[in-house]
Amino acid sequence: MAQRPQGRIVDERAGQTEEARQEGAAEVAEGEARGEEGQEELLGAGSVGGLARGPLVPPEPPLTDGEIVLRLRRESDLPEIADASHDPETRRRLDDQPLTPERQRGSLARAEEQWRTGTGAPFVIADASDDRPLGLLNIQFADDDEAGMAVSVFPRARGRGIAPRAIRLGAEWGLRELGLRRVFAEAAADNTASIRALEKAGFRRRELLRDHCVTHGQRHDCVMASLVPEDLGLPS
Ligand SMILES: CC(C)(COP(=O)(O)OP(=O)(O)OC[C@H]1O[C@@H](n2cnc3c(N)ncnc32)[C@H](O)[C@@H]1OP(=O)(O)O)[C@@H](O)C(=O)NCCC(=O)NCCS
Repeated sequence: MAQRPQGRIVDERAGQTEEARQEGAAEVAEGEARGEEGQEELLGAGSVGGLARGPLVPPEPPLTDGEIVLRLRRESDLPEIADASHDPETRRRLDDQPLTPERQRGSLARAEEQWRTGTGAPFVIADASDDRPLGLLNIQFADDDEAGMAVSVFPRARGRGIAPRAIRLGAEWGLRELGLRRVFAEAAADNTASIRALEKAGFRRRELLRDHCVTHGQRHDCVMASLVPEDLGLPS
């Protein structure tokens, strides 16, 4: 029987805190790329449809491992997020459109909306030493029990192990603090960098899923990798 997440959720109207809960049926759309908000709302090669869970409180203090910090998006991040949204490899791997100046204007509000509705947890990956943005991590909630992750590291910061750190921090938060039973990510079968980043984050690979993912309207093979509480030594 599925357990409900233990994440603390604030009812803004009542100003009260309550256990996270989600009523209604969960609709998981694995393998379907749904990014339409620019690179800021990463959804990966195949992803879950966001599911409203009620307001989700961003971790405070922000999650950090001493090298990187997962924090909220700021106005000052937007130029670098927009630049990276034009990177060819990012465009190839993610279904999102480049972040135009017009779309930049609503960017912070759209991120806040994801937190407010609990559909997703959009983090900026920042350098712990100078707070400069290095990439994006988005966690999309499939249902009470599981969430999908998508990550992008800005081109200048690749190859330094940033993605594995961010994936691990975000996944541990989901499993430990929100009580998720499974955190997963899907990567195109030929996206070696993404698959390696997931492996280094401790995710375990499942079988190849043939023609499971859709990116830019094209079906393609992908692999799914996941982390579960047992991987962290937590009780099942
Ligand atoms: C996939 C991605 C997030 C990995 O981030 P990262 O912080 O560079 O990850 P790592 O530093 O751990 O490198 C992972 C692998 O990338 C490859 N890599 C190494 N240096 C690299 C560089 N300068 N540029 C690109 N890839 C590099 C290597 O295969 C490396 O594996 P290794 O450590 O076993 O050699 C990043 O390449 C990216 O943003 N790609 C575009 C978006 C994308 O594919 N997102 C995933 C969608 S499912």
